[in-house]
Amino acid sequence: MSIQTVHRTPSVGVTSRSSRDIETDILVVPVFKDDILPEERDLDAASGGEIAGARARGEFKGEPCEVYIPPVRGWTAGRVALVGIGRRSDFAPDLLRRAAATGALAARQRRLRRMAIVHAAGIPIAPGDAAQTLAEGAVVGNFDGASYKTTEPPPAWVEDVQLRIDGDPSALRAAVDRGRVLGECTNIARELANEPGNTLTPPLFADRAAAIARSAGLSVDVLDQTRIAELNMGLLLGVARGSQEPPRLVVLRWEPTSAAQSPVLGFVGKGITFDSGGISIKPAENMDKMKGDMSGGAAVLAAMVAIARLKAPVRCVGVIPMTENMPGGRALKPGDVLVSAEGKTVEVLNTDAEGRLALGDACWYARQLGATHLVDVATLTGACVVALGKTTTGLFGTPEAWVEQVRRVGERAGDRLWPMPVFDEYKELFKSEIADFTNTGGRAGGAITAALFIKEFTGDLPWAHLDIAGTAWAEEAKPYQPKGATGVGVRTLAELALAVDAWARL
Ligand code: BES
Ligand code: MN
Ligand code: ZN
Repeated sequence: MSIQTVHRTPSVGVTSRSSRDIETDILVVPVFKDDILPEERDLDAASGGEIAGARARGEFKGEPCEVYIPPVRGWTAGRVALVGIGRRSDFAPDLLRRAAATGALAARQRRLRRMAIVHAAGIPIAPGDAAQTLAEGAVVGNFDGASYKTTEPPPAWVEDVQLRIDGDPSALRAAVDRGRVLGECTNIARELANEPGNTLTPPLFADRAAAIARSAGLSVDVLDQTRIAELNMGLLLGVARGSQEPPRLVVLRWEPTSAAQSPVLGFVGKGITFDSGGISIKPAENMDKMKGDMSGGAAVLAAMVAIARLKAPVRCVGVIPMTENMPGGRALKPGDVLVSAEGKTVEVLNTDAEGRLALGDACWYARQLGATHLVDVATLTGACVVALGKTTTGLFGTPEAWVEQVRRVGERAGDRLWPMPVFDEYKELFKSEIADFTNTGGRAGGAITAALFIKEFTGDLPWAHLDIAGTAWAEEAKPYQPKGATGVGVRTLAELALAVDAWARL
């Protein structure tokens, strides 16, 4: 059988029509918990006071992503859905993104194909940012996780979205286009990360990545096992040894002729298509989730696609090492020593710390390809999940100004990132008796020692590391998002490239 379509990108347009006259199946109106905006007052009148009644009863409070569909007379839209965005004082653009996604999910549940979203002037965000954010939300809401179900009707899609928003039409259109592309690329990453390990082996991942990247206008190079061996990537090859599937290294390039020779953004994404732990095997419970251990690689791929489609004015290179981590007869054993492409030696104390091995060689390769600024994205450590939980990505790196730049664009992108230390003192924790260092630093500070391991391969370039172990996978369905891959990191990387003027001289 073949996979069902799991996402669709609707057409998204801008309208300046009055809310009551918009022709659509469902009109989404974001509303505060504690501040009634003019749109809601008009709607309350058109519903004969039902909205005020629902608020007074506590049936509808305006909490983030809460939905209320009042009976409305005299408006053109088939239905109106109020979607909460919480208290005015707590407002953040991501609440609007989630409200739009919630609207799309609500529309799809009702099998409605046309949606409009009202952007009320009273919400404190610039019109262009609102347009982009709402478009992103509407598109990421048009994603379905049930790709291999044969017993359910095919998912319903929102085909057409109108944003009711005032502002300069051409600026709004550009913002909408940006949001639409970033939403679609988020969905591309989610689709790949949800894919099982048997349908996305390293060679299949490389083929799909190459096809997706080529059609976006990127140059693509897929290195096979022979080429990887010629480059002496002993760390990546070491991880691949235990698997029947050969590794791949996918290289994506965006080289706009108009961009300066420097800077060159280097993105590196962990592409472990299944992580069993290898000989240091993982417990059975939740091991299935390790099909998502290529989420960082998918994020790098999808971000490069967005960068090409939005014609970001900066050179970028994406490097994605792809392999399984399996306990085959020729697998890496605890105590083995590997030699990296850079020449540094690593004593492997735990074969389950495989991501940093693959990333070490890949970071070195990104430097060979001319990267001047590095960002890696990886489902790297359980320790990061312990430290920050499942909603915040760990942010590591040096120098501080570069890390802060990444944090700031991440905030804009709706990927929550929080800085973690990378003090040299932690390097003590992964000293080796017989090699340059080991691949694990033990439980204490586990996310930090993993980051510092990667730093060994960054040649002291400005470098940021996103540990998405907690954030790549949603354990619970939310009003704005089904269970499964989240696409975290995609928009942050793309926004970083689009914001090149802010950091080019760092
Ligand atoms: N892919 C895992 C990390 C992970 C854990 C991702 C939970 C998503 C959810 C990684 O390869 C791993 O196994 N890390 C080990 C490192 C340890 C052996 C030093 C870990 O975190 O336990
Ligand atoms: Mn592992
Ligand atoms: Zn892993």
